[in-house]
Amino acid sequence: MSERWTPDSWRNKPVLQVPEYPNPKALADVEAQLATFPPLVFAGEARNLKKSLARVANGEAFLLQGGDCAESFAEHGANNIRDFFRVLLQMAVVLTYAGALPVVKVGRIAGQFAKPRSSPMEKIDGVELPSYRGDIVNDIAFTKEARTPDPQRQLMAYRQSAATLNLLRAFATGGFANLGSVHQWMLGFIKDSTQSRRYKELADRISEALDFMRACGLNLESHPELRATDLYTSHEALLLGYEQAFTRVDSTTGDWYATSGHMIWIGDRTRQLDHGHVEYFRGIKNPIGLKCGPSLKPDELLQLIDVLNPQNEPGRLTLINRFGSDKVGDHLPQLVRAVKREGRSVVWSCDPMHGNTITSTSGYKTRPFDRIVSEVKSFFEVHAAEGTHAGGVHLEMTGQNVTECIGGARAITDEDLNDRYHTVCDPRLNAEQSIDMAFLIAELLKQERAGKVKPIPAVAGF
Ligand code: TRP
Ligand code: MN
Repeated sequence: MSERWTPDSWRNKPVLQVPEYPNPKALADVEAQLATFPPLVFAGEARNLKKSLARVANGEAFLLQGGDCAESFAEHGANNIRDFFRVLLQMAVVLTYAGALPVVKVGRIAGQFAKPRSSPMEKIDGVELPSYRGDIVNDIAFTKEARTPDPQRQLMAYRQSAATLNLLRAFATGGFANLGSVHQWMLGFIKDSTQSRRYKELADRISEALDFMRACGLNLESHPELRATDLYTSHEALLLGYEQAFTRVDSTTGDWYATSGHMIWIGDRTRQLDHGHVEYFRGIKNPIGLKCGPSLKPDELLQLIDVLNPQNEPGRLTLINRFGSDKVGDHLPQLVRAVKREGRSVVWSCDPMHGNTITSTSGYKTRPFDRIVSEVKSFFEVHAAEGTHAGGVHLEMTGQNVTECIGGARAITDEDLNDRYHTVCDPRLNAEQSIDMAFLIAELLKQERAGKVKPIPAVAGF
């Protein structure tokens, strides 16, 4: 690993989850073209995110990361982007207030297109075709033509990412994210919510705080801190050819940055120490994530940390845990202890989605809301016991009113899944489930603040 790093040195290592492009020349042409396109993000922004994440690592902030499992070309549109951002902001207000901590907002958006698959081929009724690997690679339709990887799709993914990011930047600073209006949406949500009584108390306190500020002469619209926010982008950097094309030298520091998004992460299936993904990630200076599943042993984690964050720089590395509600208690404590013992600075973030996927009796891939909640609670309990900061959450969620995860306050049932099951990949929390989640995490953050994380009393519907 001490060998020289270049943006393409990953090509000398084994790489998993690579699509088979029928025409390597066409792929190389696209990659060459992408390399001439403007970067999507600026290195200075990635550094700012790293600084914010350093505060999370030090226990002074909380990370809220969320978005689609996979973005799709078909669902690309202003309403989708707006609705996602609205829900994320609503969640952020609740968490900022309850935790009395800044919330670092990171979307799984504007680049979250490539998907790892458990099998390279999919068989339906005796017909075998390449698996769907995300819209940046192939199309989900089950025909030979659709499933054949097409490099032109990388150009589409880039353009969609640029358009998405453009709108998000406008929303973040153009008035949409004004604290007062985000809180007004909150009140609207609470009015219609089945949990309204529980949530009203917190919402009333936020209203009082805002009224107090107004009474003191503060105009929420005229202060940038109150009318604007920072939203960062992130995705799993799975398709290394695409990532390489957007790996650029930052002219102000001379360092290499991934400019396809502010933060990128390594999936649980591609985190082998001597493989291409780890090789690529070690050379870029962005804040990065590493997905940690049940098969990751403490020693292996420490070796990965040595490679990925050799300077022990706070904010550089976020460990995104995805164990499953029944496994988190067995796996997380030993990882936390090993990292703490070795004095490594990391952000601990909980992905309560990926370890809790089941197939419903009706045949849909789904996630029970109570298991998602249970994994988040255990995550906070483990950190309370170990004396470490439960730094953040990583959610698959949408602003749309889909029916993909069962349970929640509206008790979506197995039969309901068929109504609005829109995901092209994993099941997401819908808008209401996402906000419910924020209130639950808010209670846990308040307890962490008070120095006592205890089991939350069971609430009907969860
Ligand atoms: N600028 C602060 C922040 O981003 C406060 C803020 C403004 C805010 N608008 C917001 C917080 C919307 C949450 C949601 O944290
Ligand atoms: Mn997923």
